[in-house]
Amino acid sequence: MADVDFSNRDSFASKFGVIAATAGSAVGLGNIWRFPYVAGESGGGAFVLIYLAFIFIIGVPVMLSEFIIGRKAKQNAYGAFKKLAPGKPWFVIGLMGIVSAFLILTFYSTIAGWTLEYIVQSVSNSFSGKSSQELKASFESFQSGTFRPIMWQVIFMILTAGIVLAGIKDGIEKYTKVLMPLLFVLIIVMCIRAVTLPGASKGLEFLFKPDFSKITWGVVLEALGQAAFSLSIGMGALITYGSYIQKDNNLSSTAIKVSITDTLIAIFAGIMIFPAVFAFNLEPDEGFGLVFIVLPNIFEQMAGGYYFSIVFFILLAVAALTSTISVLEVVVAYFVEELKISRKKATFIGALSITILGIFCTLSFGILNDVKLFGKTMFGLFDYISANILLPLGALLIVLFLGWYLGKEKIKEELSNSGTIKLRFFSVFLFLIKYIAPIAIALIFLNSIGLIQF
Ligand code: PFF
Repeated sequence: MADVDFSNRDSFASKFGVIAATAGSAVGLGNIWRFPYVAGESGGGAFVLIYLAFIFIIGVPVMLSEFIIGRKAKQNAYGAFKKLAPGKPWFVIGLMGIVSAFLILTFYSTIAGWTLEYIVQSVSNSFSGKSSQELKASFESFQSGTFRPIMWQVIFMILTAGIVLAGIKDGIEKYTKVLMPLLFVLIIVMCIRAVTLPGASKGLEFLFKPDFSKITWGVVLEALGQAAFSLSIGMGALITYGSYIQKDNNLSSTAIKVSITDTLIAIFAGIMIFPAVFAFNLEPDEGFGLVFIVLPNIFEQMAGGYYFSIVFFILLAVAALTSTISVLEVVVAYFVEELKISRKKATFIGALSITILGIFCTLSFGILNDVKLFGKTMFGLFDYISANILLPLGALLIVLFLGWYLGKEKIKEELSNSGTIKLRFFSVFLFLIKYIAPIAIALIFLNSIGLIQF
C-alpha cells in the first residue's frame, strides 16, 4: 500500500460492493450474538418493538448523515469534520469516534475469538452426544480460560489487520460480496429448523409479544444503544466507508437497503435462538453465552447438524470479520491521514494496542472476573460505555452537525448527486435529523442517566 497519498484514495468499485461492505460492517456479532442476549435480558417483545422504531426513526437518518459527511469530505472521521467545519469544534465528534472504535474492538475481538474456537469444536464434532447442561458447562469452561481465548483473539486481530492492510477494493469488497449472501441463506435454514422444534411457539411469543410492564428507561436506552451498535452508526465507521463511496451512488437507497438487511438478520437471529432456548429449557436471559450454548444444542439435534455447525460458525466468524475490519479502518484511516504515517505502520500500531487492551476484556470472563468498576467487569464496562453512551452521543452530535450546521443546500447537493437524483423524502429526512432524532436521543439519554426525570 502506498504511504500518505490523498489524491489516490482507495474506493469501492461497484454499487453492490458498497452495499456488501456496509452491510458487512452492520451485520455482525451485534445481530447474531448481541441482539438476542440483550433482548433476552430486556424482556423480549417490547424491547424488539422499540428497537425497530429506533432503527427507522433514528438509525436510517443517522446512517445517511454519516454517508453524506464521509462522501462530501473524502476524509477519515476526524478529518471530515475539520474539512467541513474548519476552525469549529465539531471535530470532537471524530475524536470520540476514534475512542469508540478502540473500545468496541477490544471487547468485540473477545467474542470474535470465541467464534474461531467454535469452528474448531464444530469440526472436531465436539457437540455430539452432549446434553444442554454439558454444552453450557463446556462453553463456560472455555470462556473462563486464559490461553485459548487469548490465542483466538490475537489470531482474529491478525486476520482483521491483514484485510485492512489489503485495502478497500481488493480486501473488504471482494470477500463481503460473496459471504454476506451466503450468511443470509444459512440463517434462514437455521430459523426453519428452530421454529419446527417442539415448544417453539413459546420462544416466538417471547420475541414478538410485547409485555410493556418490562419497559423502563434503562430498556429504552438499551434498545437505542443496540440499534446504533447494530447499524454501525455513531462512531464514524460509516463516515469512513462513506468517504470511499463514489459520486454516482444513490446514498439514500444504500442506507435503506443496508438498514433493512441488518434488521432482518437480527430478527432472524432471534427467531433462530429463542424457540430453541425454550425447547431446551435454557433461560432467555442467559447473557453473553446465549448463542454459544443454544446453537450447539440445535446442531446436536438436527439432521446434518455436523456440517451446518461448521458452515455456520465459519460464517459467524466472517460476519464478525467484516465488522471488525470497518472498526479498525476508522482508526487506521485517522492515523494515516492525520498523523501522516504509512498504512502499514498505522495498521500495526492500531491493531497491537487494541489487542493488548482487548486481552483484559477476554480475561474479564476468567481470572479478572472479580475486578469490577461501577459493578461491571472491564468487558461489560467497555460494552456499556461504547454502545449505550458513546454511540448514541455520537449519533446525536452527527445529526446536529448535519441539521443545524452544514445546512440544507449542501445536504441536498450531496444527497441528490448534484441534482441528478430526484429526492422524494428530503423534507422528511430533514425533519428527522433536525428535530425528531436529536430530541429523542437527548431525552432518552438524559433520562436514563438520571439528569432529568419524567
Ligand atoms: N455493527 C456491528 C455488529 O452489529 O456486529 C458492530 C459494529 C461495527 C459497531 C462497526 C460499530 C461499528 F462502527
